[in-house]
Order: sequence, then C-alpha cells, then structure tokens
Amino acid sequence: MNMINILVTGADGQLGSEIRKLSNSFQSFHFEYTDVKSLDITNIDELDSFFSGRTINYIINCAAYTNVDKAEEDYDNAFKVNVLAVKNLAEISQRHNCRIIHISTDYVFDSALQNFPFKETDIPNSKSAYGSTKLLGEVELQNSNNHIIIRTSWLYSSFGNNILKTILRLGKERKELNFIFDQVGTPTYAGDLANSILQIIDFSEKSHSFQFGIYHYSNEGVCSWFDFAVAVVKKSGLDCKIKPIETKEYPLPAKRPFYSVLNKAKIKTKFQIEIPYWTDSLDKCLNELTI
Ligand SMILES: NC(=O)c1ccc[n+]([C@@H]2O[C@H](COP(=O)([O-])OP(=O)(O)OC[C@H]3O[C@@H](n4cnc5c(N)ncnc54)[C@H](OP(=O)(O)O)[C@@H]3O)[C@@H](O)[C@H]2O)c1
Repeated sequence: MNMINILVTGADGQLGSEIRKLSNSFQSFHFEYTDVKSLDITNIDELDSFFSGRTINYIINCAAYTNVDKAEEDYDNAFKVNVLAVKNLAEISQRHNCRIIHISTDYVFDSALQNFPFKETDIPNSKSAYGSTKLLGEVELQNSNNHIIIRTSWLYSSFGNNILKTILRLGKERKELNFIFDQVGTPTYAGDLANSILQIIDFSEKSHSFQFGIYHYSNEGVCSWFDFAVAVVKKSGLDCKIKPIETKEYPLPAKRPFYSVLNKAKIKTKFQIEIPYWTDSLDKCLNELTI
C-alpha cells in the first residue's frame, strides 16, 4: 500500500488531538504529529530541517494563535503565528511539492455587512486582531494551487480548553450563568471537522485531483451562545439557569461578529461530505467526556 505522509502541526490543540484520535481509521495515512515544542512553525530553519530527508505529502496546519481577546494587545505574536508561520508553510510546501490544508475562521467576516450565511466568495472584513491576522494568513497561501483553506466556527472538543468545558465547569459551581443571545453562529465539534479534513485527503488521493481554494465548514444549524449553553446544561442534567444577555452587557476586548453562520454548500458538494447537526454532535462530544 502506498502510504500518504501527513504532517500535523499544532497537534496538541483541540483539532490536532481530534485528528490523532481518528488516525487508526485511515490505514493508508502515516501521521507525524508536532507542536510548538517539537516544530515551531514560525521558525523556517526548524521547518527546513524537519523536511530534509522526509517526504511529506500533506500538511494539516492546526497551529494558530487562538486567544481572540489577548490578540488585541498581543498583535505581534498573533501575527507571527497566524501570518508569518503560514508564509513559512506556504514556502516549504512549494519547495517540497506538498499540499497544505490550513484552518481559518468565521471571524474574518463582519456581520454588519450581511445576515445570511457567508459564502466563500463573500468579502471578508474582520473587526478583531485575531480575525485580521487569520485573514492575512489566508492571503499567504493564495498565490499557489496547493492549498485548501477551511474556515470554521465556534470549535469545541473533549480536548483542550473551550466553551463547552467552561459551561460544564461553571454549570456545576453556579446556580445561574449569563450567556450572550445576540451573537449567532454555529458550534462545530472538532471531531467532525477532523474527520472531514481526512476525508478530503482521502477523496483527493482516490480521485487523483486536488480542488484547491477556500471552503466553509461548521456543523449544520444555527444558534446563539445562549442556545448553546442551554443545550449543554439540559443535556448534562446540570441544575443551572442560563440567563440571556446582550453583547453590550458583557464587553470583551475583541469585537465578534453578531452573525457568522457559514454556507457549507461548496465543501459538501465538492468532497461529498455529510455534516451532522450541531445538537447531534454536541451529544457525541458530551458522550466522549463521560466515557
Ligand atoms: N477554537 C475556535 O473556536 C476556532 C474557531 C474558528 C477557527 N479556529 C481555527 O481552527 C484551528 C484549530 O484551532 P484549535 O481550537 O484546535 O486551536 P488550539 O486548541 O489553540 O491549538 C493550537 C495549537 O497550536 C499550537 N501552536 C501555537 N503556536 C505554534 C507554533 N509557533 N508552532 C507550532 N504550534 C503552535 C498551540 O500550542 P500552545 O497551546 O502551546 O500555544 C496549540 O497546541 C486554528 O487555525 C484556529 O484559528 C478555531
């Protein structure tokens, strides 16, 4: 069997860990998992020495600076990981003739411009430092035809720290929690995204084609943070009331879009991907957490 060699960067994060969990289901894939300690992608020399003597067919870039609020005051570091490191990966992937699957975000969009699901062709206009750096990172890849950029939203997982785990922790400690109801999007189980990324590679290999470009991916459906919190509390049987509040009642350093639902028609059609509804995926992840 011809093995496909896949480098996963930022592999200790939520998405990287979900890919690791699925690796046994893809027998023809050989994975190399790295994170900042073993391969700092902001350092081109480290990338060069990693690639020398190895054949890598695909890079899945799960590495990112993901602290949305901290990025407002730490722009240089966010820029380094979300832009300069992506430039490094673009360079190295060109030099070594490998393909790259890079992850971006719904926060590249500005909901002041529209309130119906964003397509890949819609013009981004981020209002946050994090979103701006992620958008600039996308630009670094777009001069070549060896990239797939997947914009996703509201990621959670049984790994790492995320909003789901925060709700579960606080829901046990407190009788009441406030959650924003005027920011609407779609939660995405990182396990589903991981599976879709690996399916895209599988599809590309089997079809001997690589349909490069930008794609949108989240779970199906739409909800607010308030709806998400209510669902988590109900499904987990927690005795905690969720109170709806407006964004202005909970000011944070970074501006988030009020509406950031993604249109996923392109990824579903091009790669024959089926996407689960967000509450079904939430059940799946909660199950993982209780096993
Ligand atoms: N989380 C979300 O809600 C969300 C929403 C939309 C899109 N996304 C995008 O989805 C992707 C995956 O997100 P995630 O939630 O899985 O992120 P995550 O859990 O924060 O994982 C990112 C990983 O990258 C590592 N990393 C940071 N700097 C690095 C460097 N210079 N070299 C190598 N690794 C480095 C981090 O290490 P440290 O922890 O040590 O820094 C961490 O292990 C990212 O591109 C993110 O922008 C996330």
